[in-house]
Amino acid sequence: MTMRDKLKRLEGLRAQAELGGGEERIKTQHGKGKLTARERLDLLLDEGTFREFDRFVTHRTSEFGLAEKKVLGDGVVTGMGRIHGRQVFVFSQDFTVFGGSLSEAHAEKICKVMDMAMKAGCPLIGLNDSGGARIQEGVTSLGGYAEIFWRNTQASGVVPQISAVLGPCAGGAVYSPAITDFIYMVDGTSYMFVTGPDVVKTVTHEEVDFEQLGGARIHGTTSGVAHFVCESEPACLERVRELFRYIPQNNMEEPPRGPGEDPPQRMDEELLDIVPENPNKPYDVHDVISRVVDEGSFYEVHADYATNIVVGFAHLGGYTVGIIANQPAVLAGVLHIDSSMKGARFIRFCDAFNIPIVTFEDVPGFLPGVAQEHGGIIKHGAKLLYAYCEATVPKFTVILRKAYGGAYDVMNSKHIRGDFNFAWPTAEIAVMGPKGAVEILFRRQIAEAKDPVAETERLIAQYQDQFAHPYIAAARGYVDDVIDPRETRPRLIEALQMTQNKREPGPPRKHGNIPL
Ligand code: HXC
Repeated sequence: MTMRDKLKRLEGLRAQAELGGGEERIKTQHGKGKLTARERLDLLLDEGTFREFDRFVTHRTSEFGLAEKKVLGDGVVTGMGRIHGRQVFVFSQDFTVFGGSLSEAHAEKICKVMDMAMKAGCPLIGLNDSGGARIQEGVTSLGGYAEIFWRNTQASGVVPQISAVLGPCAGGAVYSPAITDFIYMVDGTSYMFVTGPDVVKTVTHEEVDFEQLGGARIHGTTSGVAHFVCESEPACLERVRELFRYIPQNNMEEPPRGPGEDPPQRMDEELLDIVPENPNKPYDVHDVISRVVDEGSFYEVHADYATNIVVGFAHLGGYTVGIIANQPAVLAGVLHIDSSMKGARFIRFCDAFNIPIVTFEDVPGFLPGVAQEHGGIIKHGAKLLYAYCEATVPKFTVILRKAYGGAYDVMNSKHIRGDFNFAWPTAEIAVMGPKGAVEILFRRQIAEAKDPVAETERLIAQYQDQFAHPYIAAARGYVDDVIDPRETRPRLIEALQMTQNKREPGPPRKHGNIPL
């Protein structure tokens, strides 16, 4: 055989590998509104940068007649490529081959790119579309998943791990994404569940469809499993690419800088009119965030889940920051179980990857109620507190209005090592809101008053005079300065510049024990 003949054979095999499960199944995949594993990689990566590994790998099972059914690549396309010029490692499961299910060989391919990502200090992106463990392979497939879970855990906090779920993912196919940093789903075609509707019906007699059990909307709003819900696969892959404007390659690198075109000294007059005079009136904290950060740079995470807290990345004077903001427009910005977990997880990502944290605070406290107490608000609220306390990246707070009770302590107070804590003149810092405080302190006086309503109002006004301002905290140095709201952007940028070389070594220990 001449070299040319051998090359022809190679080309033939490559073409065969590219077809995965074959043209019929590709048609079915397209018919479901889904792209193939390779089409997805084309959209995810910079044009022409994908370099594939292990395209000739096949499964090794002969059980269930599988000896005759080998497919080159074995249901997953792996390799490396670039996003905005930065190197990433990827795997993309191919649903046209045994439903993208994970065999021993399929797992080994994924493990290889995970090991490479760790060695090279590069992010890992998984495009998941899989029926879980390949049933015909039994324990070798389960072992393959465990190898992936172990690597996900080792890589956690070392390199960013991103999961896009682009099909019906079941069993092991959801637990690997669950350990990674961010999960993207597509409305109408992505599903995640430990067991599908049929098993649910057999075990619990509940009748539920794919969408209601584990669709993108459910995970983006109710369970919080998905951080991003996208309208289509191309939109989803574009959104993953956008994330790379904010995150570093690994935990030893600084995050990338934004274009920095928005002037650092820019002041915004409209910041004066966002917080309503009446402390019980809501406003949308997005209006504060968008006026302070570099224009158009806010990349919101978990936008539809626990919306009483807002989290996301932004650029501020070109620096990447993580924003955490109470949202007075939803449940008055109160902290509860889901918002505490959402905030804590985001803070820990930022801290692991050298992203300074900016907190905008307007919080009346933790949400009271039996459901919250029985649901474990104590341990879940403690997660947010713990995450703020343990974070050693630069941490800044701007108290916009309410900073009441335990929530004052939790939301990056000076006492838990906020680096710069500012307050707007509208800040109210107290153990609790005026009405609650007055009713506890002056119960008898109110009951004995000729006009209890008028007496309550008088006492509330007196309490507000005493506490509804930032100057007691400022007198103690608990806030570093009371600032004109228009100055918020330049003051935060100045604080970022000042803390660029912050070092805060902790006590020697194996690891802390965050309440779970
Ligand atoms: C082998 C599988 C498979 C699997 C799907 N297929 N899942 N083959 N092992 N796990 C095959 C089907 O037989 C079918 O082959 C093809 O893939 C497409 O599957 P369909 O069922 O036709 O597709 P669809 O209707 O879209 O349903 C997708 C699905 C469903 C929801 C994923 O296939 C399903 O429920 N699969 C099983 C899910 C599961 O229970 N996995 C094991 C979990 S245990 P043909 O040739 O007929 O087209 C696990 C352990 C890990 O993962 C432990 C973690 C802690």
